[in-house]
Amino acid sequence: MKRGLFITVEGIEGVGKSSNIDVLVEQVRKAGLEVITTREPGGTPVAEDIRKLLKDHGDEPIPEIAELLMMFAARSLNVNNVILPALEAGKWVVCDRFTDSSRAYQGGGRGLPMESIDSLANWVHGDTWPDVTILLDAPVEIGMARAGNRGAPDRIEREKHDFFERVRECYLNLALREPDRFVIIDTTRSLEEVQADVGRLAVQLIESNSH
Ligand code: TMP
Repeated sequence: MKRGLFITVEGIEGVGKSSNIDVLVEQVRKAGLEVITTREPGGTPVAEDIRKLLKDHGDEPIPEIAELLMMFAARSLNVNNVILPALEAGKWVVCDRFTDSSRAYQGGGRGLPMESIDSLANWVHGDTWPDVTILLDAPVEIGMARAGNRGAPDRIEREKHDFFERVRECYLNLALREPDRFVIIDTTRSLEEVQADVGRLAVQLIESNSH
């Protein structure tokens, strides 16, 4: 059985991950291939519970290291219980975020050491890395406006802005470091243009994997 293709979609908030994932999945299905979608943190019942804890943790602060470890706990569940079984069954997997999110948000954004993140990645998923990572890229102002954070920036908004600048820069550096894995798509253009690019990429991937 030929292993399926593992595709991840990355980017800051507001770059349009969901609608582009829909386009990608539709093309792959049209080609008669089996494809599943999953997301991180999440993708399995327990990992979805971890996602809920990360979003809604009441008054208890979550230390940055705990946040990182929770991301990787969820990832371990998703890799072992969803991603690997599907790939081994020949299905394609499209995952909304993966370890590059931990590098960009916990590493770039929060400043946790990249070596620690990469050793966790190695421990948690070894050589299970995406075959292709689509980085949907737009300047932070555009992403934040689309994500609904409009209005005059207060201190927290500015902090948010600086945080997302670091996240975006980290993503772009990761893409430069691994040009064979990353495809950067500029999402400042119209939705139609962006989706046309995603559709073309899907066709290329289907063709190059049909041999
Ligand atoms: P979203 O995927 O629905 O946009 O939300 C997930 C949030 O979690 C998003 O703010 C990015 C963040 N995140 C991390 O900080 N590290 C990670 O490893 C992952 C997978 C997500």
